[in-house]
Amino acid sequence: MSRATRAAAPLAPTVPQTPLAAPGATSSPPPAVRAAAVLARCRELTRPALVDAVGRLDPWSARMAAYALGWRDPGGAPDPMGSGGKGVRQALAVLSAEAVGASAATALPAAVAVELVHTFSLLHDDIMDGDPVRRRRPAVWRAYGVGPAVLAGDALHALAVQSLAEAPGDRAPAAVRHLSRTLSALVRGQADDLRFEELPWTGPDAPGVAAYRAMAEHKTGSLLGCAAALGAELGGAPKVTVAALDQAGRHLGVAFQAVDDLLGIWGDPALTGKPVHGDLRQRKKTYPVLAALAGSGPARRELAALLDSAEPLEGAAAARAAALVDEAGGRAATRTEASTHLDAARACLRAACPDPAAARDLDALAGALLDRVW
Ligand code: IPE
Ligand code: IPE
Ligand code: MG
Ligand code: MG
Repeated sequence: MSRATRAAAPLAPTVPQTPLAAPGATSSPPPAVRAAAVLARCRELTRPALVDAVGRLDPWSARMAAYALGWRDPGGAPDPMGSGGKGVRQALAVLSAEAVGASAATALPAAVAVELVHTFSLLHDDIMDGDPVRRRRPAVWRAYGVGPAVLAGDALHALAVQSLAEAPGDRAPAAVRHLSRTLSALVRGQADDLRFEELPWTGPDAPGVAAYRAMAEHKTGSLLGCAAALGAELGGAPKVTVAALDQAGRHLGVAFQAVDDLLGIWGDPALTGKPVHGDLRQRKKTYPVLAALAGSGPARRELAALLDSAEPLEGAAAARAAALVDEAGGRAATRTEASTHLDAARACLRAACPDPAAARDLDALAGALLDRVW
């Protein structure tokens, strides 16, 4: 969060909607292929620094971290089936440094810090959401127990701050201040996410899509914004550039979370690595459901009744709820929300990096994240 945006109102979509995938024909590879290559390059660049950082933890936390990052199985043996995730946040840090003319190496303390914060937030999130599976394997709390998973998350949180604080150069203090504000924002978003579970689906006390957007900006946008900002910060960019990249990442985060919500209902568990309908079963207030409830008509009425009933939303009931969300327009509205925030992110990127070549990888990554299936 930049000083300019720290206390700002939740992001409102201000850019007109355009299709997610630009229909332009270029000779370069399709965006998804380019983005996959960009992510792989950034994971490769960051991994040695991440391994070094995790090696500084106490052995127990290090073992759980290595499991969470997909490197090891629960017993500590190498795990060829493990996945450390897409690595979006570390990539944003590396690419934003490159976009402002700095080397990828400059961004590594930031890349490590944001990836560790992300990992810590997932460890705690799976406990809060009661999700037993993450990245196709038992969540850390299922593999080691709730108490150890909480501790491992805390260890990663502390390590993230330490790694960034030790970055060379005179921009580390500003970077740590930024990360600290981000951590507060993330916790606030997670608090709202949990609190929304207790609120009604309809009526004056129900959270609407605007409240959801503010929550998503906090829980997800703040860290993507921080990642994009910190690469530029450590790269020595002017404050205005850092702030614009922060804003770009925040919009991208809101879009990213909207797509995550879609994947939680209509995604393929074999690709997402998470069980299908988890959010519906938990009766989480996600964008597609809230947008469906904001409409009118028979599908909306049946959906509201289903959600309000005391029956568990399992199996056929969850599938029926998903169909009603679609019929009531929740799926289409969520695509529109994602698209609008992607456009806003791109506008901020152009403001931060007027040289299109410099921001080419960032732009490719932003676009592909919205069409992702995992
Ligand atoms: C999942 O993030 C949590 C959200 C903020 C939506 P990612 O989709 O980036 O998770 P991994 O790291 O690729 O598994
Ligand atoms: C995750 O949000 C946000 C953070 C971990 C801060 P979700 O709960 O929606 O993400 P998934 O679907 O479990 O990955
Ligand atoms: Mg979750
Ligand atoms: Mg959650």
